[in-house]
Amino acid sequence: MDCFVKAVMEPTSDSSSSMFDTCLRFSLVFVLGCTAMETARTVPYDGDGGTNSGTGSSGSGLPCDVDTMLKNDCRSCHSKPPIGGAPMSLDSYSDLIAPAPTNHSLTVAALSLMRMQDASAPMPPSPASLVSSGDLSIFQNWVNSGMPSGTCSTDGGTDPYGTPVVCTSNTYSTAREGSRMAPGQACNNCHASSGEAPIFALAGTAYPTAHEPDDCNGVSAMQIVIVDANNRSITLTSNTAGNFDYSGSVALPYHAKIVANGRERAMSAAQTNGDCNSCHTETGASSAPGRIMAP
Ligand code: HEC
Ligand code: HEC
Ligand code: HEC
Repeated sequence: MDCFVKAVMEPTSDSSSSMFDTCLRFSLVFVLGCTAMETARTVPYDGDGGTNSGTGSSGSGLPCDVDTMLKNDCRSCHSKPPIGGAPMSLDSYSDLIAPAPTNHSLTVAALSLMRMQDASAPMPPSPASLVSSGDLSIFQNWVNSGMPSGTCSTDGGTDPYGTPVVCTSNTYSTAREGSRMAPGQACNNCHASSGEAPIFALAGTAYPTAHEPDDCNGVSAMQIVIVDANNRSITLTSNTAGNFDYSGSVALPYHAKIVANGRERAMSAAQTNGDCNSCHTETGASSAPGRIMAP
C-alpha cells in the first residue's frame, strides 16, 4: 500500500516532465517500490541462525542497535506516519531497504548514511547536532555489512527480565584469582582495593537469565561487542565462568552489545565505566535491568 501511494505522489512533484515522461516514471516507480516491498516480505527473520522465529513479526525487523539509534536520532520526525515534512518513515526494515523518495537508485538506508555525514544538508537537520560517532558507526557498520535483518529479543511482548533469581548453571566459582574468579561481582571494584589485581578496561559476566546470584558461573561463548568512541570495535568471548575481561585501551564512552546465534541485545546508552557488573548486578543497579543476559 505504501509503495502505491508513493507511486501516485512522486510524479506530481516533478513539474518539468511531460505527460509521457510522467507515465513512464509512474510505472517505473511502481515497479521499484513494489520490488522492495517483495524483498522485505521474503527475507526470513530467522535466516541468521534459526533461533528467533516467532519473535520477528512483532519487531521492526531491524537489529536492536540500529533500531535504537533510529528511535533516538530520527523518529521524532521519521515516525510512522512521518511528521514535520520528513518524506518517509524510518520505522522498519522494509522502510530502510525501500528506494529513497527523491533518489530511486539509492535505498533509504544508503541515502540516510550519506545525509548523516553531509555537512551542508545533515540529518537530523540543523540546528540539531550531528549524531554521535558511536551511533554513526552502528549505522555505518550495518549498511556496510549488507543491511542484515534482525530482531530485538525484547520485542517478544513478555518482559524477559521478569524471571526469578536462579543460578542456571547450578555451579559456583571457587577460584581466588584469574579470569574465572568471582563471576557476577564487580571486578574492578574489588581489584582497586587489592594492590596485586589488575584494573581492566572492560570486564563483566554473561548469564543465561536476568537475575543470577554472585559467584554463580554464567554462560560461555557469548560475544561481547564493544564499539568505542573512536569507532574501534572490540569483540570479547565469555569463558566457562561467563566472565570476560579486556586490558587494552578503550576510548570512552563506549557502546556494548551481547551477540550469539545471530541474535543480540544492545545497550542503548553509551557508558564510561568498563566495570559492567557494577551496574549489571543480580537485581540491577543504576537502572540496569539485571544481568548481562544471553540474547
Ligand atoms: C527534525 C526532524 C527530522 C529529524 C530528527 C530527521 N529528519 Fe530526515 N528529514 C527531515 C525532513 C524535513 C526531510 C526533507 C527535507 C530534506 O531532505 O532535507 C528529511 C529528509 C531525509 C532524507 C532524504 C530522503 C530523500 O529521499 O531525499 C533522509 C535520507 C533522511 N531524512 C534521513 C534521516 C535520518 C537517518 C535521520 C536520523 C539520523 C533523520 N533523517 C532525522 C526531517 C528530519
Ligand atoms: C572480591 C575481590 C575480587 C573480585 C570481585 C574479583 N577479583 Fe580478580 N582478583 C582479586 C585479587 C585479590 C587478585 C590477585 C590475586 C593474587 O595475585 O594473589 C585477583 C586477580 C585476578 C586475575 C589475575 C591477574 C594476574 O595478573 O594474574 C584476573 C584475570 C582476575 N582477577 C579477573 C577477575 C574478573 C574477570 C573478575 C570479575 C568477574 C574479578 N577478577 C573479580 C580479587 C577479586
Ligand atoms: C553505569 C551502569 C552500566 C554499566 C557500567 C554497564 N551497563 Fe549495560 N546497561 C545499563 C543500563 C541502565 C541498561 C538498560 C538501558 C540501556 O539499554 O541503555 C543496560 C543495558 C545493557 C544491555 C542490554 C540489555 C537488554 O536486554 O536490553 C547489554 C547487553 C549491556 N547493558 C551490556 C553491558 C556491558 C557488556 C557492559 C560493560 C562492558 C555494560 N553493559 C556496562 C547500565 C550499565
